[in-house]
Amino acid sequence: MALLKVESVTKNFGGLVALNEVSLEVEQGSLLGVIGPNGAGKTTLFSTISGFHKPLRGAIYFQEQRIDGLKPHKICKMGLARTFQIAQPFLGFTPLETLITAALNALSLDRATKRAEEVLDMVGLAEKAHEEGGSLTTADQKALEVGKAIATGGRLILLDEVMAGLTVPEAQVMMSLIERLRREGFTFLMVEHVMYVIMKLCDRIVVLNFGEKIAEGTPEEIAKNKTVIDAYIGEE
Ligand SMILES: Nc1ncnc2c1ncn2[C@@H]1O[C@H](COP(=O)(O)OP(=O)(O)OP(=O)(O)O)[C@@H](O)[C@H]1O
Ligand SMILES: [Mg+2]
Repeated sequence: MALLKVESVTKNFGGLVALNEVSLEVEQGSLLGVIGPNGAGKTTLFSTISGFHKPLRGAIYFQEQRIDGLKPHKICKMGLARTFQIAQPFLGFTPLETLITAALNALSLDRATKRAEEVLDMVGLAEKAHEEGGSLTTADQKALEVGKAIATGGRLILLDEVMAGLTVPEAQVMMSLIERLRREGFTFLMVEHVMYVIMKLCDRIVVLNFGEKIAEGTPEEIAKNKTVIDAYIGEE
């Protein structure tokens, strides 16, 4: 049984069908990529899985428990955490304080503090523990977003464009972080526009276009899929 199972999920905003009968599965320990043009429904999919939207139809299972319709904090407590496309820093908080706050989702204060320190180290922010959150670089803010998701106790992490705005060397650092976290047992579902990142990191890729799943396969299969090339990748 997959860790996450999305079954024929439909989500509309008034007359706009942002997700139309989308299904996918994420196996424990794997990394599934979600790609597609702007407005394809990728963030809506993440928001629906993490409880920010209730689907109109369909079902979502995490660890075999049905989660669609549950509140975001309930789903987070079960071990499913997301990052946001636009980093959501806790204003006025240092990275350490931010991660303690996230860790309080699952732990008492002294254990949360210890976990926050571990996670700071994991995401490479130990030296910036006490800086003002607002003064972090984009790359550090993205690393902190990943750290927050981990600190909550999440085992399945939804990453929404964590590479956006990063330089190539910064993206390399983020890629090694994700690879390291995978080796430690975390499972990922990742939305990304940066193609070499997707091709390198993902076991499988799902392609959305106008709210529909138009393809699914290995990176090699997706790279030569005619429908996907026409809708998104282009001939390059
Ligand atoms: N809260 C909302 N209310 C109304 N319409 C929305 C809302 N959120 C998203 N939409 C619409 O749903 C569609 C899918 O949007 P979504 O943000 O999921 O796309 P995306 O694939 O994440 O795009 P991008 O690559 O630009 O981030 C778009 O047409 C968008 O305008
Ligand atoms: Mg988006």
